[in-house]
Amino acid sequence: MSQSTIESILQEKRLFDPPTEFAKSARIKSMAEYQQLYDRAAADPQAFWAELAAQELHWFKPWDTVLDWRPPFAKWFVGGKINLSYNCLDRHLTTWRRNKAALIWEGEPGDTRTLTYAQLHREVCQIANVLKDLGVKKGDRVGIYMPMIPEAAIAMLACARIGAPHTVVFGGFSAEALRDRLVDAQAKLVITADGGFRKDKTVPLKEAVDQALVNNGAPSVENVLVVERTRQTIHMEPGRDHWWHARQAEASADCPAEPMDSEDMLFILYTSGTTGKPKGVVHTTGGYNLYAHITLKWALDIQDTDVYWCTADVGWITGHSYIVYGPLSNGATSLMYEGAPRPSNPGCFWDVVEKYGVNIFYTAPTAIRAFIKMGEHLPKARDLSSLRLLGTVGEPINPEAWMWYHEVIGGGRCPIVDTWWQTETGGFMITPLPGAIATKPGSATRPFPGILADVVDLDGNSVADNEGGYLVIKHPWPSMMRTVYGDDDRFRRTYWEHIPPQEGQYFYFAGDGARRDEDGYFWVMGRIDDVLTVAGHRLGTMEIESALVSHPAVAEAAVVGRKDEVKGEDVFAFVTLEGSYTPNTELKEALKQHVVKEIGALARPGEIRFADALPKTRSGKIIRRFLRNLASGEELVGDASTMEDQSVLEKLREGA
Ligand code: WT7
Repeated sequence: MSQSTIESILQEKRLFDPPTEFAKSARIKSMAEYQQLYDRAAADPQAFWAELAAQELHWFKPWDTVLDWRPPFAKWFVGGKINLSYNCLDRHLTTWRRNKAALIWEGEPGDTRTLTYAQLHREVCQIANVLKDLGVKKGDRVGIYMPMIPEAAIAMLACARIGAPHTVVFGGFSAEALRDRLVDAQAKLVITADGGFRKDKTVPLKEAVDQALVNNGAPSVENVLVVERTRQTIHMEPGRDHWWHARQAEASADCPAEPMDSEDMLFILYTSGTTGKPKGVVHTTGGYNLYAHITLKWALDIQDTDVYWCTADVGWITGHSYIVYGPLSNGATSLMYEGAPRPSNPGCFWDVVEKYGVNIFYTAPTAIRAFIKMGEHLPKARDLSSLRLLGTVGEPINPEAWMWYHEVIGGGRCPIVDTWWQTETGGFMITPLPGAIATKPGSATRPFPGILADVVDLDGNSVADNEGGYLVIKHPWPSMMRTVYGDDDRFRRTYWEHIPPQEGQYFYFAGDGARRDEDGYFWVMGRIDDVLTVAGHRLGTMEIESALVSHPAVAEAAVVGRKDEVKGEDVFAFVTLEGSYTPNTELKEALKQHVVKEIGALARPGEIRFADALPKTRSGKIIRRFLRNLASGEELVGDASTMEDQSVLEKLREGA
């Protein structure tokens, strides 16, 4: 975050009480009610979660042990048998919700589809049978690389139904990035589409899958299931590639949900860290189901009459928990939209809100800043009066954007629910409960009941009010990540060793800096590690550096974030070249393209600066702090005396 954003957050004193009318019919109606839940959960977390698990979910068999905690490894509802697809579908079929809209979908070209719970159940069962026919068994991993179409949700639910953990790869990732993930997860089958519509163009998804699999690139993959979406020309490899619709037409709609162990792996989702390749975050079944369910119910206050729209992509954790699993587990109506604001239709989001009478809208600060830039006239020209709650996620929201969201989109009447959480946490961790907790622009407010959050120093001691520190969680929660897929050691190192345990107290280290104010409100300040948040997407600087260095022209690369008005941060790369290459504009462009090829367009550097050398300490470590200063054109902050070669900085500045 930029200095000015931090300052405006520090000075932020506005307080917005829950609107009276809203609170009256909210799930959690008052601060007293929140406090009571919070205190009860803090006093006995296991009893609290066990009571909710019994009340909110269907279990084929109850658990024997609520929590088995062998730090840093947790197991929840041990011995319990459960199926997430059953909780999202079957259990609603015997109620009036059978014919309620489960998914409302709008495609970018304007085609639409609505699936009731009964219809969705039928299609999920059919695809689950298709997967079985193609040899997918309980425990086998399935890659999903799809546009935002109902089939993406159907694919996920079909996997959950037969106990095949999915790994969804965002459709904006390149073939190379897809291959890395398929290889790491040892996926047996990939579900994709011929292509997807994105900003009036088509994205060649199947072609990327072909590239990922070429030369036996991901040898574990035996079959590819292809949805017909764009009808672009694609290659179908005989024996390997199968059309979804052809297979579905032949499949039985009878497929009982497999009773899964509560701790059976539900999915792997890759996310960027500070070192090495993206890590596979592992989530398991029972705890995740409960947590996605109850956080959506209490924090976004989802109710039976709501049309709820989360604008994320299913390729991110937000899409997993809050487009698919959370809403469907609650029997809610979840809207999926394939499109994005684009020059030909910048107001498309507001058209969707008006057309479907959206009541709850959940998006990201980067989108809100883009809306501000596009102008008030777009939302003002539509009827947005159906909205009753607005949510945000992904990065700290600057108070200006918060106020604009509140006034222009929410008409001043909708609570703003700023949810702090991570891929690793599975669901909201710090968030207002909108009928109970007064909001402050820029603060995610208070921990969800059962979440023991704190701001501490590196010894694990709580810091004083309004002092900066590290955001940690001090008690396991049901949807915490279980491990890094195939790498328990990395899990331990990344999350549990930054702050060493103190007398049996373990600290989950989130990687974010934060402070807590005198009212107990949390203000998350952003990543304190080498992780960037670019337009809400999480990227590791190391990952982009590795991509750059894999180009023959590049000797060394250092990547930092530079403040960007809309994206929050932009990728800024400093590059030194191999001897035989000379810096020029074509090479810059080629390097940007190379990053797109290696990772995806989301990682494309906004700027590349060529340098003779990078600033390093005497022990050879790149001093990123200086590079960050240089990238944003600021004065250098800190002491340059530890630097090996002082002239390097001067040259870098001249290079600007
Ligand atoms: C990182 C996690 C959780 C889904 C989206 C991102 C940042 C997320 C907030 C918020 C301040 C936030 C943090 C966090 N972040 N939400 N409301 N306020 N920061 O998931 O890709 O796993 O990224 O996003 O830095 O650590 P993710």
